[in-house]
Amino acid sequence: MPDRWIDAITKPAWIARATDTLGDAVKQAYAGGGDRGLQVKSALNGVWLGHPLHPALTDVPLGAWTVAVALDTASLVTGRNELSSCASAAATIGVAGAMAAAAAGITDWSDTDGRSRRIGFVHGALNLTATGLFAISLLRRRQRQNISGRVCAFTGYALALTAAYLGGDLVYGGQIGVNHAAGHEAPEEFTPVLALGQLADQQPKRVIIGTTPVLLVRRGDRVQAMAETCSHLGGPLSEGTLKDDGIVCPWHGSCFALEDGHVINGPATHPQPCFETRVRGGQIEVRMPRPEEPIALDMHNKDQNEGELVTQ
Ligand code: FES
Repeated sequence: MPDRWIDAITKPAWIARATDTLGDAVKQAYAGGGDRGLQVKSALNGVWLGHPLHPALTDVPLGAWTVAVALDTASLVTGRNELSSCASAAATIGVAGAMAAAAAGITDWSDTDGRSRRIGFVHGALNLTATGLFAISLLRRRQRQNISGRVCAFTGYALALTAAYLGGDLVYGGQIGVNHAAGHEAPEEFTPVLALGQLADQQPKRVIIGTTPVLLVRRGDRVQAMAETCSHLGGPLSEGTLKDDGIVCPWHGSCFALEDGHVINGPATHPQPCFETRVRGGQIEVRMPRPEEPIALDMHNKDQNEGELVTQ
């Protein structure tokens, strides 16, 4: 489907209004839940999985509905009614999976903006319609209205495939759900990046090493470094706020542990790459962590030669 078609589908002004209203409502619902709301949101984002949960769940309805449609088709061709019963079972699994996928999907969607948000809205609306049609299909089959049941199933399947296409466009075109910090690396050897005196305590700062933006944070006698581009959607972590032992992204509130980059709160699900640091000759130096020297170790080693702090 060409981009201009997708733009035409998502262009109407009412879609923009609806996305704003629904998006704000979802955000307020989670915010109103306080810490518990944040935990539920992070769980639905897939923080516990280390990967967005929604795309993993969408395989359930699409797979189950594909089986249902295939069995219905076989039943029509062969006249074997028991295949239609199996199709009903597959459709039921699909409806259950679709509801779980919808909960995760609307959670991810609430943190998108602009074109991606409008496409996501249409994607979700098509999937909800498809789910409704499969639910009606199941009802009609119970009423022994097999023909209308199959028509609902086939129509729902066509809508689900269209929605899946739009979901793919969100990932491959809009880069929703991908790791925006992937490939952000520091040099293999320690490289000076900033004079220690230029890094104020508790003041996140952005420096560039090669082509990689790096976040530096000085907290007392520690200097910590991680990729500055948020893994969620590329937000600037140097403009974020420090919270306990983490940094909170200014765009959608993901929180990453400064010590090892793991996600404390979503919507990000991918960790931030972290780097080793040390101070030599008054300069903060940064390098990629060595596999045999995990970042979490040796955080407070002293440089025996210069008597300066070494942080890793
Ligand atoms: S860009 Fe979304 S949380 Fe950072």
